[in-house]
Amino acid sequence: MKINETLESLRVSYQASSLDAKDCDSDPLIQFDQWLQQAILSKCDEPNSFILSTVKNNRPRGRVVLLKGIHNSEFVFYTNYKSAKGDEIEKNENVALTFLWLPLQRQVRIEGKVTKVPEAISDDYFGKRPRGSQIGAIASPQSMILESRKSLEELFLRAEEKFEGEEKLPRPNHWGGYGITPDYIEFWQGRPNRMHDRICYKKDLDQWKIYRLAP
Ligand SMILES: Cc1cc2nc3c(=O)[nH]c(=O)nc-3n(C[C@H](O)[C@H](O)[C@H](O)COP(=O)(O)O)c2cc1C
Repeated sequence: MKINETLESLRVSYQASSLDAKDCDSDPLIQFDQWLQQAILSKCDEPNSFILSTVKNNRPRGRVVLLKGIHNSEFVFYTNYKSAKGDEIEKNENVALTFLWLPLQRQVRIEGKVTKVPEAISDDYFGKRPRGSQIGAIASPQSMILESRKSLEELFLRAEEKFEGEEKLPRPNHWGGYGITPDYIEFWQGRPNRMHDRICYKKDLDQWKIYRLAP
């Protein structure tokens, strides 16, 4: 295929920065906070987006979601609890998160276990969303097969009508947050000649061990 020639010739030499364990915070969450803030300041698109990987039976599945907070050392995102990912999480608590900040030539990989956040946290965040997003969360049976775009729009309209005149919308039981407690966090910084930096934190008896991996 013609595209293969192009793909083979696509090549970027990463030389924006470097990373050494001595420059990293001993707490990976503080290190993550610093990198996330730099991604936001550098105007990376959707800097809080990450690929959430779950496991369905023995088969990995990934999709993008948005990080909406770090509460009690948990990485929090919001979704439909009855979605495919919700079902997968219900059956297997092990997940992986992958952040990609290309303008900074950085990747962060996180692994850990996921649980639902307390309802009060979901209520609080749901209340801060724009009304249209709230209606969308109420109306959309995420991951279900739809007959058509029109049937989805009808669900939205029906939810809009149901709550017409009500200023505050209730968070539906099927929508809320999940928090991931990490036990592995890896910071990847692109370097020239594919000699990238990989600084990893692994939790060992409540202590973070730091080491470097070959690129
Ligand atoms: C930039 C971006 C951000 C997204 N953020 C979310 C999110 O925060 N929560 C969510 O449920 N889906 C989000 N999605 C949609 C998911 O990728 C996915 O389509 C949806 O959650 C259904 O996934 P599932 O069927 O595996 O459960 C986002 C997609 C993109 C591209």
